[in-house]
Amino acid sequence: MSTPTFNTLDQLDPRGKRVLVRVDFNVPLRDGRVTDDTRLRAALPTLTELLDKGAALVLMSHLGRPKDAPDPAYRMRPVGEALGALLGRPVRTLDETVGPAVEAACAALAPGQVLLLENLRFGPGEKNNDAHFADQLARLADVYVNDAFGTAHRAAASVVAVAERLPAYAGRLMARELTVLGEALSAPRRPFVVIMGGAKIGDKIAVIDALIPRADLILVGGGMANTFLAAGGAAMGDSLVETERLEDARRLAAAAGAKLVVPTDFVAADAFDVAARTQVLPAAGGIPAGWRALDIGPATVADFSARLASTSDGDAYIAI
Ligand code: 3PG
Repeated sequence: MSTPTFNTLDQLDPRGKRVLVRVDFNVPLRDGRVTDDTRLRAALPTLTELLDKGAALVLMSHLGRPKDAPDPAYRMRPVGEALGALLGRPVRTLDETVGPAVEAACAALAPGQVLLLENLRFGPGEKNNDAHFADQLARLADVYVNDAFGTAHRAAASVVAVAERLPAYAGRLMARELTVLGEALSAPRRPFVVIMGGAKIGDKIAVIDALIPRADLILVGGGMANTFLAAGGAAMGDSLVETERLEDARRLAAAAGAKLVVPTDFVAADAFDVAARTQVLPAAGGIPAGWRALDIGPATVADFSARLASTSDGDAYIAI
C-alpha cells in the first residue's frame, strides 16, 4: 500500500477566498454547553492558518444523530460559542444549513470572518451523499478544505460530493493523520501496534481486516471490546454490544489470533451518568445485569502499557 497523495494547505493560497471547511465538531454537550472541546482545538491549526492568510471561513459539521430533521438538542450554536472563545473572534452560527439566507450570509463575509452552518444532519441530504445538497453547499464558497478526519469514513455529501464540486484540500489535521496512517500501513517500524477503540465494530470491519495482516498487535478498548468479548461467550450485562456483529467479531478474532488483545477487566457502572455507582470487574466473570462496562480496568491498563513498553522501538497507531 503506498502513501496517499493529496493537496494540502501548502498548495492553497486562500487570500481573499471563501473557504468551506468540513470539520468534525461532533462534540459532547450538556445543558447547552460543550463539555469536551478536544475536537474544536484539533481544528484550530487549520482554521487559524486560513484566517491568518486572509480567508473567510464557512464551517460545517454534523452533531449527534438527529433523525434527518431539525432537533433543538443538536443545534450548533453552543459549538459556535465555544469555538469563538477558542479562536478569539466571533463565530456566527446560522439557523440553517443551505438556502438563500445562508448564501447571502456567506456572500457578505469579509476576510477573517467565520460562519458556522447549522447541523448538516438536519436533513437527509448529508447522509445520502445527495447531489442537490452538495450543489447547495458548494455554492457557499470558492474552495473546500476537509479537516474532519473523524468523519472521513462516512460517504456523506459534505465529505464526498462537495469535494467533487470544488477545488479540494486536506486540512492540517487530516493531512497529518493520512500521512501517519499511510506510513504506518506501508512501511511500519516493527513491532507495529494498533490501539483501537470507539463504540462500534460495524463501522470498522474493513479497517480491522486491513490491519490484521499488517499489524503485530491490535489492542482493543472502548465499546467495541464488549462485542468481541460477547462474541467469545462473555456475559456483558447492560453494556453496549452490537448483537448483529457477533459473527463478524468471531471471524475477525479468529483471523487475528493472538494479535488481537481484549480487556481482562472493566470499570463498570450501574448507569451512564457521572453520579453512577462504579466497580472494577474481571472480564472473565462477566458483567452482571444492571451493570455496564464503560472503560477498561486497571489490570488492562497495566497489560496494555506493558505490551506497549516492550514494543517501544516500533510504531503505535491509535484508531478510534
Ligand atoms: C464520530 O464521532 O465518530 C464522528 O463524528 C462520526 O460520527 P457518526 O458515527 O455519528 O457518523
